[in-house]
Order: sequence, then structure tokens, then C-alpha cells
Amino acid sequence: MYSLNVELPVSSYPIYIKKGLLDEIGSEIKKIYQNKKIVIITDSNIENFYGEKIEASLAKEGFSVNKIVLQPGEKNKSFEILQRVCNSVLEFGLNRSDLIIAFGGGVIGDLAGFAASILFRGIPFIQVPTSLLAQIDSSIGGKVAINSTYGKNLIGSFYQPKAVFIDPNLLLTLSDRYFNDGMAEVIKYGAISDKSLFNKLLEINSKDEFFQTAEQTIFTCCSIKKNLVEIDEKDNGPRMLLNFGHTIGHAIEKIFNYEGITHGEAVAIGMYIITKNSEYLGITQKGTTNLIKEILSKYNLPYELPNINETEVLKNIKLDKKNSNNGIHIILINSIGDGFIKKIDLVELSKFTNLNPL
Ligand SMILES: NC(=O)c1ccc[n+]([C@@H]2O[C@H](COP(=O)([O-])OP(=O)(O)OC[C@H]3O[C@@H](n4cnc5c(N)ncnc54)[C@H](O)[C@@H]3O)[C@@H](O)[C@H]2O)c1
Ligand SMILES: [Zn+2]
Repeated sequence: MYSLNVELPVSSYPIYIKKGLLDEIGSEIKKIYQNKKIVIITDSNIENFYGEKIEASLAKEGFSVNKIVLQPGEKNKSFEILQRVCNSVLEFGLNRSDLIIAFGGGVIGDLAGFAASILFRGIPFIQVPTSLLAQIDSSIGGKVAINSTYGKNLIGSFYQPKAVFIDPNLLLTLSDRYFNDGMAEVIKYGAISDKSLFNKLLEINSKDEFFQTAEQTIFTCCSIKKNLVEIDEKDNGPRMLLNFGHTIGHAIEKIFNYEGITHGEAVAIGMYIITKNSEYLGITQKGTTNLIKEILSKYNLPYELPNINETEVLKNIKLDKKNSNNGIHIILINSIGDGFIKKIDLVELSKFTNLNPL
């Protein structure tokens, strides 16, 4: 079993990665949780594939389990569903030392984690991430949130799980589109801080090949995130490196109104465009943009959009609440595996969002 520990000033927690871990989840949880009651929050896709399995494993250890099964999709990250989830947890009679399990992709993790952070001013929760994106990114680091009509993830908190249990076998039922979506973030980790990961992804020729070393790859990604979270939990400094491709990516998602394009696809385009510009400006090593294009194409990810309007992209970046009036942090790479944060004036931004710099 691969494992690592996220060490933070107020809490530290383990991440375990092992194929088949779901079958042992009951006995693993027994080691860290002494009460009986557990509420699992999940969506109907995951429930159909794995609902019985997780319940059986927990029941075997004598836990009393209730389940909240939601419709799949981003719409769950709303006040309405949050309220419903909180009420169900209370109805099941949990108290502040009982346990919530977030069993799903990033949507379930963000929603269940946020519910856990506000129920009884904080009830313990465990992440059992099921999508590739959740296994390498959203289940780690404690960012939990719902969306507002003013934007995504604007209502939330930093609330760390008690543990993260990752079973890469669960990815076998993930659709190709969501698999590739998560791959965009795996590629991002390689691009900003691990050239050998990037090269390994370039060499892989099929999903089967990815699975052969999935535990190791997931471990590598979690380690990169863990290190950044430990030095900058609240995301004001080095953790921002994880936003490579996201400044433009978020603007694209917004232009699409979060429909018809996945987060990973938007980030893929963002990584390509910003690197193309920084290479043109002489910041990034020549040839890097082509490597990014090659790797994105390999995982069926887009690197450009035919009808995108540059002015719209710029407008949406400037509207982003995270940017202050006097500047914006953008993430660039010197070369593959070597990312850095650059603070620029908003007036300089267009130099990095030019869709056709060459
Ligand atoms: N908290 C963070 O740090 C963080 C980081 C990145 C993204 N996010 C959030 O994560 C969300 C996106 O996460 P996501 O891409 O996992 O979306 P998701 O949770 O909607 O899952 C994607 C789809 O895959 C299905 N699915 C998940 N696991 C499956 C499996 N093993 N087999 C079959 N189907 C499965 C789901 O039912 C869903 O339809 C966004 O809301 C985003 O804001 C949060
Ligand atoms: Zn992302």
C-alpha cells in the first residue's frame, strides 16, 4: 500500500492508495474511528457500481450505515442540496463525533466536505474519491465548497478530512471523457513540477498501460499536492502553482456557462495558450508548447477552441474575484517540470492570453 501523511499545524491525516482498497474500507476505518454511526454521501452512478460493496465492508465491522444518494452532477453544489444533506444527516441522528464518508468524485467531495464542516461546527469526514480528478486533486487539501449564482466555489471553507482512501480500481468504470478530464490535472502536475511524470505520460500508449502503474502515478500527484498544501494551506503562496492553466481555463468554463466543456478540457486549453505566449515572449524554453500539444492530443484533450473570443477570455479573467485591482498571479513554466508564479499588472495580462502569438 502506498501511503503519505499531510502534516498541517492543526490537523494531519493519512492518504492511502491501493488497488482493491474499497474491499477493506471497513477494517481500515475501524482503525481510526471508534463510534458506530456512519453516513455515506454519494451519487447514483457510484451507488450503482459500488454501493453494495462499501456498505458490506462497513457492515462487516459492525458499523451502522445510512446513505444519501444524490443525482450526479455539478448542480449538487447548491444551497438547496446542502440543506437537504444536512437535514438527512441530522435525521439519521448523528452527533458531532460520528462520521461522514464522501464517496464520489469532486462534486460529492466538495459538497459532503462542506456539509461536514458546518454540521455541529465540524463533524469528522473521510474522503473516498472515485474519479481520477478526485483521487489526484480535489480529495486532498481541504478545500470544500458549493457554488453561488455569482460563481463557482464561492461559498466554502478549508476543512481537512480525517483520512483519504484511494482505490485506483474504481477508475475502471469511469467514462473515457472523465478519465481524460482527470488526466489534464495529472499532466499539469508533470508540467509544473515533475518532468519524469510528464515523460512517463508521453510514453504510455493505452488506458491499460496507465492502470499498470496507476498507484504510483496517483501517489506522485498526491505527493506534489501534499507538499504545496503543507507549506501554503490557505492558497496565498506556493499552492497557487496548482493553478497552471486555470486562469484561462476558468474563464473558458465561465464563457461556456460550465456546460459542454469539462474542467480538465478548459485547463488543457489554458495550459497550452499560456505556454505558447510565454514561449513566444522568450520566457519558456523553446519546444515546450509542442510537448504540451503532443501530450494533450494523446489524451484526447483539446489545446485550442475554434470560436473562442480573446476579449471575452480577458474580460472573464478580470472579473475573477480572486484577482485584485493591482495585479494578478499567473503560473508559467520555464520548461517541463519547472513551474513558477509570476505577479503581473492586469494591463500586461493580454500578452499571456493572446490566442495566436506566433
Ligand atoms: N476541492 C478541490 O480542491 C477541488 C479541486 C478540483 C476540482 N474540484 C471540484 O471537483 C468537481 C469536479 O469533480 P469530478 O470531475 O470528479 O466530477 P463529478 O464528481 O461530477 O464526477 C464526474 C462524473 O463521473 C462519475 N463518476 C465518478 N466516479 C466514478 C466511477 N468510479 N465510476 C463511474 N462513474 C464515476 C460521477 O457520477 C459523475 O457523473 C468540480 O465541482 C470542481 O469544482 C474541487
Ligand atoms: Zn483544476
